[in-house]
Amino acid sequence: MDVNNILVVGSGAMGSQIGMVAALAGYQVTVSDISAPMLEKAQAQLRSRMDNSVAKGRLSLEDAAAALGRLRFSTELAKAAASADLAIEAATENLEVKRGIFAALDAAAPPHAILATNSSTFGSSKVADATGRPGQVCNMHFFNPALVMKCVEVVRHEGTSQSTIDTVLAVATRMGKAPVLIEKEIPGFVANRLMGAIRDEALRLYADGIASFEDIDTAAKTALGHPMGPFELMDLVGLDVSHQIRLATFAETGDPADLPHPALTELVERGNYGRKSGKGWYSYDGVQQ
Ligand code: CAA
Repeated sequence: MDVNNILVVGSGAMGSQIGMVAALAGYQVTVSDISAPMLEKAQAQLRSRMDNSVAKGRLSLEDAAAALGRLRFSTELAKAAASADLAIEAATENLEVKRGIFAALDAAAPPHAILATNSSTFGSSKVADATGRPGQVCNMHFFNPALVMKCVEVVRHEGTSQSTIDTVLAVATRMGKAPVLIEKEIPGFVANRLMGAIRDEALRLYADGIASFEDIDTAAKTALGHPMGPFELMDLVGLDVSHQIRLATFAETGDPADLPHPALTELVERGNYGRKSGKGWYSYDGVQQ
């Protein structure tokens, strides 16, 4: 199926950058959010990122202007959905919110449109039955920062059609990503299961007083070649997001081992969410978010 128009629902760190990636790949894109101030913030951040890329010689001024010209921002979900070939939902990790969005998208989007979720927590089977087109629903899971990270997990639920999968894989490839097909829904899919194993061990080592979190990060970078240590990564993703993912996974599995680590809960309860709040494991005064 030909995809020309993409709608991204949610203008947080993930949604806004997914929209920018799609616009850079030549798609006509609308990023939609219920909050106009969030949309304004997203627009300003993306402009600043494009300015940086131009300043570094990574992108021509013309290409940046053309991509920004293909990117629209709207608080009117139904109107934006009416012309979408593909909608990518990147709203908060709350199932009821997502189901509401999928029902609204199903009502407003053309019959051929594919409805994907960027959720890392919920397999698309959890939202597919809120629509009348479950075969056209799947996960399209990007990684933070979406402008940079190449992986996109495309996850099918039992009823996802092959043509939906083929189309979403093709879109991810045109976006310059390296899509990975996940054949069965499983909590955490693949990448987050790998990352979670490392993060859990890092939290244990820290909580047991074996090493400081800074030194654990240094070991991950200098011994394992990871671009960031697990604590830096938690700050990037958002401690609140990591915390919420664990709670949702626990709700699904009932396994106490899936509960968030107390050290993580303590920081979240203090409002230390990571880079976006200026403080998490580390402090980020004056750092571009
Ligand atoms: N948003 C957009 N672009 C960013 C960025 C951000 N937050 N942070 C850095 N960048 C860009 C920079 O602009 C720069 O771009 P150019 O190459 O065009 O100049 C590039 O990334 C490299 O940045 P830096 O030189 O400043 O720093 P770096 O080399 O340390 O790279 C990084 C930064 C890309 C974030 C790198 O540290 C990295 O890959 N970290 C690991 C990230 C990771 O593991 N992400 C997965 C998170 S898990 C997840 O997302 C799943 C989930 O479900 C929660």
